[in-house]
Amino acid sequence: MARAGELAELRARLAETEETLRAIRSGDVDAVVVTGKQGPQVFTLQGAEHAYRMLIESMNEGALTLTADAVILYANQCFARMVKRPLEQVMGSSFRHFLSAADRATIRPLLKRADKSGSKIQVFLHAGDGSKMPAQISIRPLEENGFNGATIGLVVTDMTEARRNEDMLRALTHRVVQVQEAERGRVALELHDNITQHLCAVLTRWAALANKLPARAKASRGEVMKLSQMLGQTVDEVQRIARNLRPSVLDELGLVPALRATCTEFAQRTGVSLKLACKRLTARLPAEAELALYRILQKALENVEKHARARHVTVCLRQRTFIQLAIKDDGIGFDPDRHGVKRKGRGGLGLLSMRERATYVGGDFKIKSSRGAGTEIEVLIPLPPGARSAN
Ligand SMILES: Nc1ncnc2c1ncn2[C@@H]1O[C@H](COP(=O)(O)OP(=O)(O)OP(=O)(O)O)[C@@H](O)[C@H]1O
Ligand SMILES: [Mg+2]
Repeated sequence: MARAGELAELRARLAETEETLRAIRSGDVDAVVVTGKQGPQVFTLQGAEHAYRMLIESMNEGALTLTADAVILYANQCFARMVKRPLEQVMGSSFRHFLSAADRATIRPLLKRADKSGSKIQVFLHAGDGSKMPAQISIRPLEENGFNGATIGLVVTDMTEARRNEDMLRALTHRVVQVQEAERGRVALELHDNITQHLCAVLTRWAALANKLPARAKASRGEVMKLSQMLGQTVDEVQRIARNLRPSVLDELGLVPALRATCTEFAQRTGVSLKLACKRLTARLPAEAELALYRILQKALENVEKHARARHVTVCLRQRTFIQLAIKDDGIGFDPDRHGVKRKGRGGLGLLSMRERATYVGGDFKIKSSRGAGTEIEVLIPLPPGARSAN
């Protein structure tokens, strides 16, 4: 009878052990608690990585571990889907296999000297079906985390959506700039054809009226003269606004005189001292590039006037293998990340449209500014082929 009881107990323990083994094999348990003579002891299992594996497999990012020479030791299913290859083919192959020659050259030093703080690069992943996917790769060394053999960990993020949004934003900004330009042209025409004409007519009639006043009405004559002076100033101001709105000066005079006129007008009107270092260019730039430089200067000077509280401004135009325009002020400066082109939400369009104009003509736009240390706007625009010169 006792034997039958022992047998039943043994069977029950065997069943329990089998169940534990099954759970360990399938990764359902991370640790086993064994009660022994020294009390309960916890044994963690290799399968403790199971939870992390589940996490990594369920990620929407590709996750990989590589050897120092970029052989893939481990990749998750998501990465296999990104490169449209079976996981078995991905593991054991070289990560370089999924990159263009240029991206391979960029990533090589980052893999060789993977920085502890990690680094990020943007690449195009080449998939098995010949398609390319924009991706961001975060690289981190793993050695010190105790991974045997694996030295580098990568997280690959699909940037297709982000790129699409960026492209849409760029197209939208370009459209805004185009509409702004067209609208300015329309307003300039209205100002020139209507307001200026009317003001001139009023001025002429006013002068005629003043002449009819008797010589003895001295006080009235003085008042009339003052008023016609004010009217004259208003005509000048309206013409200045119209000129700024429609850069016909670019067509009439060319880029350098147009920039010079803008600078002179700014210094005279605002009283801020302005030094212009501007050499005549050896060739004319495409109309769009000239308009971009002209508008960027106008917008930059507008910002100096509105925000900088500067005492001195330097504008420098140079021709090398590209055209460089730099506008530097000694004003209060600002944090471009918080208030500039990268700021989120509502805000001005000035810096955004300057960047868009430069980018649209194949150029580069940089802002260097910090609080209390002034601001420098730099635009680099490539010269059209045939217009390059050493000066
Ligand atoms: N030269 C400068 N000195 C100090 N702050 C500046 C300068 N240029 C720009 N800023 C700061 O950056 C912000 C963004 O400038 P941006 O030209 O984009 O917009 P805005 O001038 O405010 O409006 P908008 O140009 O559309 O009339 C400004 O509000 C200002 O705080
Ligand atoms: Mg502005």
